[in-house]
Amino acid sequence: MNKTEKVVLVTGASSGIGKAAAALLAQKGWKVYAAARRLEAMQDLAAAGVVPLALDVTEERSRLAVVEKILRDEGRLDALVNNAGYGSYGALEDVSDAEARRQFDVNVFGLMALTRLALPHMRGQGSGRIVNVGSIGGRLATPMGGWYHATKFALEGLSDSLRLEVKPFGIEVVVIEPGGVATEWSGIAGRGLLAASSGGAYAKPARDMADGLEAIGRGKGPVSQVAPEVIAKVIVHALQTDRPKTRYAAPCHAKIILFLRWLLPDRAFDAMIMKQLAGLADSGAKRRCPTWRCGRREQTNESAPGGAASPLRQRRVK
Ligand SMILES: NC(=O)c1ccc[n+]([C@@H]2O[C@H](COP(=O)([O-])OP(=O)(O)OC[C@H]3O[C@@H](n4cnc5c(N)ncnc54)[C@H](OP(=O)(O)O)[C@@H]3O)[C@@H](O)[C@H]2O)c1
Repeated sequence: MNKTEKVVLVTGASSGIGKAAAALLAQKGWKVYAAARRLEAMQDLAAAGVVPLALDVTEERSRLAVVEKILRDEGRLDALVNNAGYGSYGALEDVSDAEARRQFDVNVFGLMALTRLALPHMRGQGSGRIVNVGSIGGRLATPMGGWYHATKFALEGLSDSLRLEVKPFGIEVVVIEPGGVATEWSGIAGRGLLAASSGGAYAKPARDMADGLEAIGRGKGPVSQVAPEVIAKVIVHALQTDRPKTRYAAPCHAKIILFLRWLLPDRAFDAMIMKQLAGLADSGAKRRCPTWRCGRREQTNESAPGGAASPLRQRRVK
């Protein structure tokens, strides 16, 4: 390892935000270890000098193997980007306890367990940075996404506690709060939603939300989805800046939505959310809120590398 080269582990790097962040960090001169369950989906990263590693964040042996390999090969770990995650959707009455636990295992417990493995080495070094990829969904909630929101709300609180605990050891903790990003995320959430709720009392709103998620996946939602590279840039900034903020919402529409969440009373915000969802159900795209389209000038899903039109984009059925 080059002495000035810093070492980072990025989880969930087989697609979307994690893959874009791994690629950009390698370009910026970091020694990048990219981890996810699908090794084959990270081969393009290997060609760019990134080291792909198999990781299931819910498996203890898998987490240990990844951290031990990095420490054996590099002798240090400067940063951890906890990005692996998925959206478990379905009406709260319909989602099984087993699925709710799986959602927490991946998005919260797996993330914290990996963090626990990294911390002793960062403390030993007297420095380190942990970037947790949360969501604007960790500060507001929509119907049909209750367990997903619960994990992202949990991530916000855990990150705040952790930041205070590890600051004396020279370790910084930062939360990234993305809004709509064009990745595999919405397809996975939509399929889970239909599996959980398409047959019962919530069939109609579930169908509407699934149509909305599908429209979002095609870049036709009320929010201009951005390419994952937009969020990757924010992650790189959070890792490289001398004094990072505690949280970064991105892109622009995420900041506006969080501002509205802060400004509006609960029932007014509820009404706004339901109106947006009704608009999605109606048309998949016809009723767009002009305010929420502020991301127009940012790199979009279609135009960006890794966007819908890009060969970098991986499609899969889970
Ligand atoms: N897309 C959005 O609009 C959006 C908005 C806000 C927040 N986020 C958050 O951003 C993060 C990245 O999501 P994304 O949008 O880039 O979605 P994505 O394209 O579906 O990527 C998710 C990544 O997580 C990995 N992963 C899932 N389960 C895993 C497990 N058990 N162990 C290890 N890796 C696992 C997946 O890889 P394998 O399947 O190969 O393991 C994949 O690389 C997530 O935490 C998500 O909640 C996304």
